[in-house]
Amino acid sequence: MKKILSFIVLSCAVLSAYGSALVNVYGRQYRLLNGRWDAIVDLYDQGGRMKVYENRQPEGETDFYEYAFDGGLRLEVPGDWNSQNPELKYYEGTVWYGRHFDAEPQQGKREILYFGAVSYRCNVYLNGRFIGSHEGGFTPFEIDVTDDLKRGDNFLVVEVNNRRTKDAIPALAFDWWNYGGITRDVMLVTVPDNYVHDYKVQLDKHKPDLINIEVKMSEPVAGQSVKVEIPGLKKRFEAVTDENGEVQGAMNVKNLKRWAPDAPVLYDVTVTGGDDRVEERIGFRNIEVDGTRILINGEPRFMRCISFHEEIPQRMGRAFSKADATMLLSEARDLGVNMIRLAHYPQNEYTVRMAEEMGILLWQEIPIWQGIDFTDAGTLEKAKGMLTEMISRDRNRCAVGFWGVANETKPGEARDAFLRELLSTGRAIDTTRLYVAAFDLVEFDRDRKVFSMNDPFTENLDVVAVNKYMGWYHPWPLSPEKAVWDVNPDKPLIISEFGGEALYGQSGSEDIVSSWSEDYQARLYRDNIEMFSHIPNLAGVSPWILFDFRSPFRFHPVNQEGWNRKGLVSDRGQRKKAWYLMRDYYKSKRDAEK
Ligand code: GCU
Repeated sequence: MKKILSFIVLSCAVLSAYGSALVNVYGRQYRLLNGRWDAIVDLYDQGGRMKVYENRQPEGETDFYEYAFDGGLRLEVPGDWNSQNPELKYYEGTVWYGRHFDAEPQQGKREILYFGAVSYRCNVYLNGRFIGSHEGGFTPFEIDVTDDLKRGDNFLVVEVNNRRTKDAIPALAFDWWNYGGITRDVMLVTVPDNYVHDYKVQLDKHKPDLINIEVKMSEPVAGQSVKVEIPGLKKRFEAVTDENGEVQGAMNVKNLKRWAPDAPVLYDVTVTGGDDRVEERIGFRNIEVDGTRILINGEPRFMRCISFHEEIPQRMGRAFSKADATMLLSEARDLGVNMIRLAHYPQNEYTVRMAEEMGILLWQEIPIWQGIDFTDAGTLEKAKGMLTEMISRDRNRCAVGFWGVANETKPGEARDAFLRELLSTGRAIDTTRLYVAAFDLVEFDRDRKVFSMNDPFTENLDVVAVNKYMGWYHPWPLSPEKAVWDVNPDKPLIISEFGGEALYGQSGSEDIVSSWSEDYQARLYRDNIEMFSHIPNLAGVSPWILFDFRSPFRFHPVNQEGWNRKGLVSDRGQRKKAWYLMRDYYKSKRDAEK
């Protein structure tokens, strides 16, 4: 029998393991439960047996408990535990978080406990009772706690575990730090008994003047009045719900200013349903493929892209706040990008919304990253759940132009079937974005003297992306100006990763890879930029990566010290020589589109 993990992810009627959480929580009435929480580090997973979530206090003369939340370790929420305590830097296991909070449940209202993300899996307990669980470190989930809340003091416990497992996503070994903890906002959202749970207000995939509308109320009640108002367009849509509590419709609009990279137009939108009212700013744009070109609002655009992990290198911790988003996005902006690949997992909502305000297109993906067990049915369900949660959260975010379903997977019957399932899951929810996956399968064909790839699965994608480290993992088989590509010639191709490592400030021969020098990295970038001009269907490039980032298997004691040094910017924010080459290249690409 499969070894049952001592940390059990309990299924529970209250919370479906996967499904869409409340959309647009920041546009609702909410109270943050962020701050310093009490914590118990439970390396041997004994807390469940000891029922620490009951938070019992000794009574009488003979009572005692070998735990207490009060008086011990305290951890900031949101935030990973690794960067908050030196002893937790490498910690992989269970941490019990606990905190008190007061509640005043109101008649006719529901209280929804919402987590932006918990890495990697968790069980949630309120006032000593298990109320729900979730697996997946990068997507939100919610629990309706209306019937569990007490008037006055409540005690909330979250049992968090970040142990890597073969059936997890990502699985046992991945090239980023395994941060654990309650890593994004926690909030109590107050909504009416029947509230607007989900909605889509989206420009039609192809039409420039048709806005499609879907609103889903929390209760399957017919006859509820629903309104969607866009004052900036002088438009109001009104309808009543069907027996499922849902409304579908559309409205033609005039004089719409469509959102575009470098021209981010957003409109105030109000969605009301019954007694509920949700507000936010939404942009409207078209993104589609025309042969080998990517069109934004009908115009071909070259994707001047960069990747970054959800990490602030200076504090060696996971990014989670507006300030973190500002740092990452402004550094990307200075490079001259019009797109960011949020590697390799959905990142926090501050980053997504701020990119939208700044006019930066986004590629978001779920962490199907090497080493996934494609034969495991449970893993497929988890992947579908993560994809659903990612799309549901950001479906109204016009900045998101691409959904990525995999990174560097190998062809095979199980992999193909798994990814086809993922694509049909995604396309059942959202057909307005381009579906993409990144592959590291391009080889140099010595007979034909071209770079080619053989992975029939790519035909299922709108855009094909290739990670290719010419000059780093792969020596040049011929000079870069002769490096012609013949990869999916009828589809847009994005070079989603290229680059090499350099230790900031280290100089050396531009001919020697192991110099780990800025000189070699700059030469590598010059060579790759030359090669790009010989890829006929190239629709975009994305250097790997904006910042040096933490990785447990980058061992070199001088050049790496647990850092992957492919950043264009060092972990201390210093721009390497290659940064300037990319900035100039992107400026030339942008000028060519004027
Ligand atoms: C891979 C992978 C990245 C990794 C990079 C590297 O392409 O997608 O996540 O960090 O290579 O080896 O640096």
